[in-house]
Amino acid sequence: MHKQTALIHDPKAAPMDINTMQPPVYHASTIIFDSTKALFNRHWTDRYDYSYGTHGTPTTYLLADQIARLEGGQHCLLTPSGLSAISLVNTALLTTGDEVWIPDNAYSPNLAHLQQLQSSYGISIKIYQPQDIDSFMPSKACKLLWLEAAGSITLEFPNLPAFIHKAHQHGAWVALDNTWGAAVAFCPFAIDTLAVDISVHALTKYPSGGGDVLMGSIVSHDNKLHQRLLQTHSVLGLSVSGDDCARIYRSLPSLQLRYQQQSATAQQLMHWLKNQPQFSQVLHPANPDSAGHDAWQKLCPSGLSSGLVSVVFDKRYRWADVCRFCDALRLFQLGFSWGGATSLVMLYDIKKIRSLPQTHLQGDYVVRFSVGLEHIDDLTADIAAALLVLNYDEKVAQP
Ligand SMILES: Cc1ncc(COP(=O)(O)O)c(C=O)c1O
Repeated sequence: MHKQTALIHDPKAAPMDINTMQPPVYHASTIIFDSTKALFNRHWTDRYDYSYGTHGTPTTYLLADQIARLEGGQHCLLTPSGLSAISLVNTALLTTGDEVWIPDNAYSPNLAHLQQLQSSYGISIKIYQPQDIDSFMPSKACKLLWLEAAGSITLEFPNLPAFIHKAHQHGAWVALDNTWGAAVAFCPFAIDTLAVDISVHALTKYPSGGGDVLMGSIVSHDNKLHQRLLQTHSVLGLSVSGDDCARIYRSLPSLQLRYQQQSATAQQLMHWLKNQPQFSQVLHPANPDSAGHDAWQKLCPSGLSSGLVSVVFDKRYRWADVCRFCDALRLFQLGFSWGGATSLVMLYDIKKIRSLPQTHLQGDYVVRFSVGLEHIDDLTADIAAALLVLNYDEKVAQP
């Protein structure tokens, strides 16, 4: 054999007999078959009949199985981002004439994807008020109910069991965006009390924890439903890289401890923020004044509540003031996302992103803090210093 060929056709099997803390990472688009018999007898839906990289490798299945266990479901599909997990669910389950319900405080790209499906295929989108079960009025055409607990940005916590019960009574599937709970705050597949059909999770946030990987997961229980999602996953060619899976897998052992710490710090921050006169409201499920506090208490008796805390600026402040406040923060970095070690901040004009009247909000300008793993005293000092740039007379409470 020529050296040129030998360099390609080496045995490729390293001496094994080694046990490492982290599992080996498979990088594969092509998977080699032993024979034509093996090639034609395989079936790609059988997960261990490895066919091609897009269908999965031992590395992707390792992470998928761990996420399924974490969420308490049976099956897990991995997608290149949390948003692609959401859009896969919409694409797989909705067709012309179907009705889908989404909360007004949902992660807004979900609604944007549904609007695309509406104009291409004629589905019907209904928006409900997450605090009001009566605003969810499914018709016979209802196929899918989206839930988010707590909701994006304003963090209202819905009565999940009531919504799930009503949707199931009408024969609709229930999909929960479980990114906030991260499968740590509560279990979405607790059959007796809370049984969603699908839990979607942006692994980008808490499971990754590093702000450096994008990935989503779709966990389900029912075999038929999983097969339907799997077919769509396959034809869309949604694959994830082995290296990204390994990064998330490596972060999982610390997930619960990080989440607990971030919840505890966020609750301390919530209490401190309540004493600042610049804010008319502090939005956080553990705050007794927040919408859905009772529902959160029932579902999360452990008291976990993620690292997100939002504030509503008092009406006397203009948008430019809110921008100046965010620009003045030093530890809270201005950036989308959450769940990592570095605290983040983002600002929103709520009336631009909601469809229904927000009767419980005492202002339009909302700033969402995503608490990282820094010390609470440093975080409150950062906010106290940034509030000074507002240059009004209020006394900023000492951290
Ligand atoms: C609640 C929620 N769901 C889903 C996503 C989408 O995740 P990704 O950024 O991985 O697409 C996000 C992202 O911010 C989110 O906040």
